[in-house]
Amino acid sequence: MGVQVVETALRDGHQSLFATRMTTDEVLLALAELDKVGYHAIEIWGGATFDACLRFLDEDPWERLRKVRKVCKNTKLQMLFRGQNILGYRHYADDVVEKFVQKSIENGIDIIRIFDALNDIRNLKAAVDATKKYHGECQIALSYTTSPVHTVEYYVNLAKEIEAMGADSICIKDMAGVLLPKDAFELISALKKNTSLPIELHSHCTGGLCEMTYLKAIEAGVDIVDCALSPFSGGTSQPCTESLNFALQGTPYDPKLNVAMLNEAATKMQPVRAKYLANGLLNPKVLSVNANIIKYQVPGGMLSNLINQLKQQGASDRLDDVLKEVPNVRKDMGYPPLVTPLSQMVGTQAVLNVLSGERYKMVPKEINDYLHGKYGKAPAPVDEEIRKKIIGDDPVITHRPADDLKPEFESLKKQYKKVAKSDEDVLSIALFGDVALKFLEKRNADLVPTLIKVEA
Ligand code: CO
Repeated sequence: MGVQVVETALRDGHQSLFATRMTTDEVLLALAELDKVGYHAIEIWGGATFDACLRFLDEDPWERLRKVRKVCKNTKLQMLFRGQNILGYRHYADDVVEKFVQKSIENGIDIIRIFDALNDIRNLKAAVDATKKYHGECQIALSYTTSPVHTVEYYVNLAKEIEAMGADSICIKDMAGVLLPKDAFELISALKKNTSLPIELHSHCTGGLCEMTYLKAIEAGVDIVDCALSPFSGGTSQPCTESLNFALQGTPYDPKLNVAMLNEAATKMQPVRAKYLANGLLNPKVLSVNANIIKYQVPGGMLSNLINQLKQQGASDRLDDVLKEVPNVRKDMGYPPLVTPLSQMVGTQAVLNVLSGERYKMVPKEINDYLHGKYGKAPAPVDEEIRKKIIGDDPVITHRPADDLKPEFESLKKQYKKVAKSDEDVLSIALFGDVALKFLEKRNADLVPTLIKVEA
C-alpha cells in the first residue's frame, strides 16, 4: 500500500494561513468532493477552530461538526486534542476531559490526535482512556523539538511508552517545521524499528524544508503524511496534497488519490482563498519561506508574536537580543518544546528578560506555575538556582497536575442550566467561559423569533 494522506485544509490549513476564520459554509463548500478523494482522514476540528467559531464567527462549533459528518460519508474525521488542556489553555478535571471525548465522538469524530506540550504522558492518559472507552481511534502525537535531550533515543522511548498506553498510531508533530530531512529519515527509521504502530508525520512549510522532509520520511517508511489542498497549502501551512500525489506517482509510495476530485475541490475552494487574500486576513507574508525559523528554532507564529510584542513596547530594535535569549530561557526551563502554551510563555519571558535589563526580574504567572510543576514534568531538569530565585522554597508538585482538580462538569451544568441547552453547550462554557456564554445567549435569543415564525 502507498503512503496515506490526511487532508488538513479545513483545520491546520486555514489556522496557519488566516487565523482559522473559514466559516462553516466555506468548510462545506467542497466537502462532498474531498470525501471522494481517498484520504486516510480529513482533519476538521481543534482548539483554534472551536475558539474561532465562538469568538469571531458566531457559530456553534458542535453544529459545524455535525454538518461536516452529514456530508462526509466515506472519510474518517480527525481532531486535535491538547491532552489535559482539551481545546483550551488550562488543565481541566478528568470528568470534563472524558465528557469532551465522548461528545466529540458522538457528534462525528473518528480519530482523536492527542498531544501534550511537554510530552508528559501523564497529561495524555485521561484523554487516551476516554477515547478507547468510547471506541474512538486514538493517535498520540509527540511534540517534536531539538535540544540536547530530544534525541532519537528519547523519542523511541516515548514511542514505546505510547504503544504500551494503547495508542492506535503515533504522529510526529513538528509544529515549528524545523525537522530536517536527514533527521526525519533517522527518526522514522528508528520508530519503525522499535514500534509496530503506524507512524504519521505532521510538519509545516514555513522554513522551506517540508516537502524534502516528507520525501525522506516516506523513504524511511512513514505510513501517513499531513497535506493541504493547494489553495490552503505552502507557507506556514502543510505541503500541497495534489503535488505530493503527483510526486509519488509510479513509485511504491503512490497515494493513488482521486485527481479529478482533488481538482474539483481545489477549483471550488480557490475563491475562498481569494476572499481572505483580498480582505487582508491572509497576509502574503505567511506564504513566503522564512528560513529564520530554522536558524532560531522558533515556530513562525511565535516569531511574529515576538515582533508584535516588541513593536508595542517601542523596542523593535531588540529583536536580535530576544531571539538570542529564547534558547537561554528554554534551557533554564528544561527544554520545553515551543508549542502552545509553552511557546507564548517562553517568548514572553525572553522579552521581559531583555527589556527589564535583569533576567527573571519580572516573571509571568504562567512561568511561575510551570516552576511549581503545574504543567507537568519538564523534559530536562529545570535550573534550580533560577527556580529558587522565582518561587523560593515553595513546594513543587511531582504528581500528575490534574490529580489536584475536583470534578467540574456536573456543577457547571447546574450553574448554567438556563443558558446551556445540551451537554455540548456545557462543554463550550467549560472551555471558553465568557466567550461561549456570550455566543450561547445570543444564539438562544435568536432561537425565539424563529420558533414564533414557525408557529405563525
Ligand atoms: Co500544525
